[in-house]
Amino acid sequence: MRRSLLCWYGAQGRDLPWRRSRDPYAIWVSEIMLQQTQVKTVIPYYERWLAQFPTVTALAAADQTQVLKAWEGLGYYARARNLHRAAQVIVEQHGGQFPADLSTALTLPGIGRTTAGGILSAAFNQPVPILDGNVKRVLARLLAVAVPPNRALAALWQASEALLDPQRPRDFNQALMDLGATCCTPRNPACLLCPWQPHCLAHQRNMQNELPIAETR
Ligand code: ADE
Repeated sequence: MRRSLLCWYGAQGRDLPWRRSRDPYAIWVSEIMLQQTQVKTVIPYYERWLAQFPTVTALAAADQTQVLKAWEGLGYYARARNLHRAAQVIVEQHGGQFPADLSTALTLPGIGRTTAGGILSAAFNQPVPILDGNVKRVLARLLAVAVPPNRALAALWQASEALLDPQRPRDFNQALMDLGATCCTPRNPACLLCPWQPHCLAHQRNMQNELPIAETR
């Protein structure tokens, strides 16, 4: 499954600006922007942000007004405030280096488990799993999860961790996100083009349009 996904990613993966970077700061900025905003909206904001605040030190030293102004149009401004505060923590407590270990990264404001996994795998090639909205859908279909994904979080995290390629965690996690974004889409998934179709319980049962089960609240 790892081989087929990575092969698919080599041919069909998206060329996104943050994937060309190994700078934990730049990758962190991208992951925060991508939490609640689409890729194509994020790209120009990401480029402008790094031009204006090229390092974590520059961001930490900026005025909150400048920071919020650079965020204008992305919405969910708590993300910008958390980025700014976390940059100050990184400068004051971590010598200006984004923490390379999961438990320390998780103490920073605005960084939860999936964001931490996205950053540590992309920046340091660490084998830390992710579980964002796209990945929940992929795994809920793969395993034909019979409850809404948010009621099966333990099983989905376990699956993400078990599948993760220990040799190529960076590419594997990026591939999993792309699979969800471009192939295993919410409506009309492209099962015929999916590298995991032979393994997918939803496809075997022709339930890809019924899964995942909608969240209730
Ligand atoms: N969504 C969250 N992180 C992402 C990434 N690194 N690439 C594409 N979409 C994403």
